[in-house]
Amino acid sequence: MDSEVTTSADRRSDVATATLPGTEHAAAGQIGPTGRPMPDFPDPAPLASHGPARIIAMCNQKGGVGKTTTTINLGAALAELGRRVLLVDFDPQGAASVGLGIRVNELDVTVYNLLVEREHDVRNVIQSTRTENLDIIPANIDLSAAEVQLVGEVAREQILARVLRPVLDDYDVILIDCQPSLGLLTVNALTAAHGVVIPLECEFFAMRGVALLIDTINKITDRLNPRLQVDGILATMFDSRTLHSKEVVRSVVDHFGDQVFHTVISRTVKFPDATLAAEPITSYASTHGAATAYRQLARELIARGGAA
Ligand SMILES: Nc1ncnc2c1ncn2[C@@H]1O[C@H](COP(=O)(O)OP(=O)(O)OP(=O)(O)O)[C@@H](O)[C@H]1O
Ligand SMILES: [Mg+2]
Repeated sequence: MDSEVTTSADRRSDVATATLPGTEHAAAGQIGPTGRPMPDFPDPAPLASHGPARIIAMCNQKGGVGKTTTTINLGAALAELGRRVLLVDFDPQGAASVGLGIRVNELDVTVYNLLVEREHDVRNVIQSTRTENLDIIPANIDLSAAEVQLVGEVAREQILARVLRPVLDDYDVILIDCQPSLGLLTVNALTAAHGVVIPLECEFFAMRGVALLIDTINKITDRLNPRLQVDGILATMFDSRTLHSKEVVRSVVDHFGDQVFHTVISRTVKFPDATLAAEPITSYASTHGAATAYRQLARELIARGGAA
C-alpha cells in the first residue's frame, strides 16, 4: 500500500502529459472526446482491507476490439491504485497471458483444468505477474476443448463462478478476458460476473452485433444471474484526427447515453508494442497518453461504483 503515495504523484504528472496535442484527454469541465463535459475522476481513497471481489467480464463477440488490451491495462491501472486484481484469461488464444509474459505452451495447469477437472485448487493455477497486485489465471489452446466437454455438465453455465468462489476474498476486482464469441465460455463469464464492460472499436461497424450482445446479457440477467449489469461501454482505437472516429463515438453516445465511459482509448502503436514487450502500458510507457487513459478509466470505473 506504500506504493500508493508514489504512484499517485506519478499520476498527477501524467495528467500534464495527457493534455499534449494528440493525447485526447480533456481536463475536467472541458468537452471530452465523447462530446460531453468531462467530469473530474479523483484518485480514490486507498483501501483499508481487501475483497470481496467485484467480477467484471470484458465482452464483445466481435474480434479485435480491445478486450484483451483493456483487461491487461485496466487491470494494471487498478493494481497501481492499490487494488488487488486477478485477471482470468478466458480465451484459448491466451493473449492476456502472453501479454503479461507467461509462456502459455509450457503450462501444466490452466483455467481449462479448473473448469473440467474438479480436483485442482484455483490458488495453484493463479500466477503472479511482474506488476505488483496483478495476478492471472492463464489460458492456452487447451481451453478450446472446454466448450464441447462442458456441454453435458450439470449447471454448465455456473462452472467459472464456482471455480472463482474460493478466492473472492483475496481480490478487489476480477477481470475476465472473454473470447470473441457468445458461446458457453462467455455465458460462464457473464454468469460469474457482477458487471460487463463492452469495448467498441471506433470504426464504421462498431455497433454491429451489439444488439445481440445486449440481448444475451438480458437473457443471462433473467435466467442465470440477476445481479449482472452493464458497467460501461468503452470506445477504443479512437483517432482524433478523423471525423469518422468522432461520428462513431457520437452515435454510440446517442444510443447508449451515460453507459458510455467518458474515457476513450486512442489508437496508438504503443499498445501492440507493449504486447510485444509483454508488459502493461502503465509500465511499458508509463507517461504516455495511452497509459494515462487507462489510469483515468480505472478512476472512472471506481467513481461509477464498478470497482471498490
Ligand atoms: N487503442 C489501440 N490502439 C492501437 N492498437 C490497439 C489498441 N487496442 C488494441 N490494439 C491492438 O489491436 C489488436 C486487437 O486488440 P485486442 O487483442 O485487445 O482485441 P480483442 O478484442 O481482445 O481481440 P480478440 O477478439 O481477438 O480477443 C491487438 O494487436 C492490439 O495490440
Ligand atoms: Mg482478446
